[in-house]
Amino acid sequence: MKICVLNLSGNVGKSTLAVHLLAAYSPGSRILSVESINASAANDMQGLDVEELGASRFKDIFRELMQSENIVLDVGASNVSMFMTEMKRFKSAVGEFDLVLVPTVPAAKQQLDTIATIDWLHELGLDSRKVRVVFNQYAGDTQDPVEIVYSQVLGYATADGRGKAVYEPHAVIDRNEVFELAKEAGQVVRELAANTADWKAARGEAKRAGDMAALERAMTGQMTHDLAVTAHENLMRVYALLFGEQSANDVAPASPGRKRA
Ligand SMILES: Nc1ncnc2c1ncn2[C@@H]1O[C@H](COP(=O)(O)OP(=O)(O)OP(=O)(O)O)[C@@H](O)[C@H]1O
Ligand SMILES: [Mg+2]
Repeated sequence: MKICVLNLSGNVGKSTLAVHLLAAYSPGSRILSVESINASAANDMQGLDVEELGASRFKDIFRELMQSENIVLDVGASNVSMFMTEMKRFKSAVGEFDLVLVPTVPAAKQQLDTIATIDWLHELGLDSRKVRVVFNQYAGDTQDPVEIVYSQVLGYATADGRGKAVYEPHAVIDRNEVFELAKEAGQVVRELAANTADWKAARGEAKRAGDMAALERAMTGQMTHDLAVTAHENLMRVYALLFGEQSANDVAPASPGRKRA
C-alpha cells in the first residue's frame, strides 16, 4: 500500500496516525516524512523505518514512491504548500497513492483546512474512494456526538463535499494522552499495549523495599499500559474500517444522526 497523510493544517495528527495507526499495524511499511530535516517525531520511534526528505526534493520523493510498495508519506505542515505545488507539476504522482488519509480535529480552522484539502485533492483528479477522512482528537468525555463535533466537515460531506471523499463517521480516534507518553517512551502504542510487565508485582516489591521512585514508575507504568490498551483497541477498529473490504466500498457520506461506534 502507498498511503499519503495530508492536511493543509498542522497539528491534526498526521505524524501520529502515520506512526501509530498506519506503520505500526502494517508490517514492512516505512514512513517517508516530508519535513525539514530532523523535524519528525517519527524518527525516534523504536522499530520504525523512517526517512526524511523535504518537499524541495520532490523528484526524490516521487522516485521513492514509484519504487516502493509499502510506504506512508507523512507531509508536515511546514512542507505542505511546496508539496502541493509539486504534485500539480508532476501530474501522475497523485495516481501512485492507494489511499490519502486526511485527519481532522474539532477546531474550526482545522476543519476548514480539511475541507480545502479535500477540494484540492478532488481538483487534482484523485478518485474519491481513495480519499479518507479520519476524525481525530475526539474528546471521549464530551456529550456531543461526532456529527456535532465535526459538523463543518460532515456538513460539507452532505453538500459540496459529496462524492469527493469517504467520510466514515465511525473512523474516530479518541483524544488520548498516551500518544504523548508514547513519544516520550519512543515506542508505538501497539508496543506499549503489548507490554506484559507485572506492574502489581513491581509495586509490591517497591513498597517492600521502600523505594518510592520504583513505586512511582510502577504506578505510571500501569496507567500508561491501560491507556495504551484503550488506544490500541481504538486504532485497530479504525484500521479495520479503513482497510476492511466493507469500508473500501462505502463511499456514502455520513447519514445524519449516526452515533459513533
Ligand atoms: N488522538 C490524539 N490524542 C491526543 N493527542 C494527540 C492525538 N493525535 C495527535 N495528538 C497530539 O497532537 C500533537 C500534534 O500531532 P502531530 O504531530 O501528529 O500533528 P501533525 O499533523 O503531524 O502536525 P505537523 O503538520 O506540524 O507535522 C502532538 O503532540 C500529538 O501527540
Ligand atoms: Mg507531523
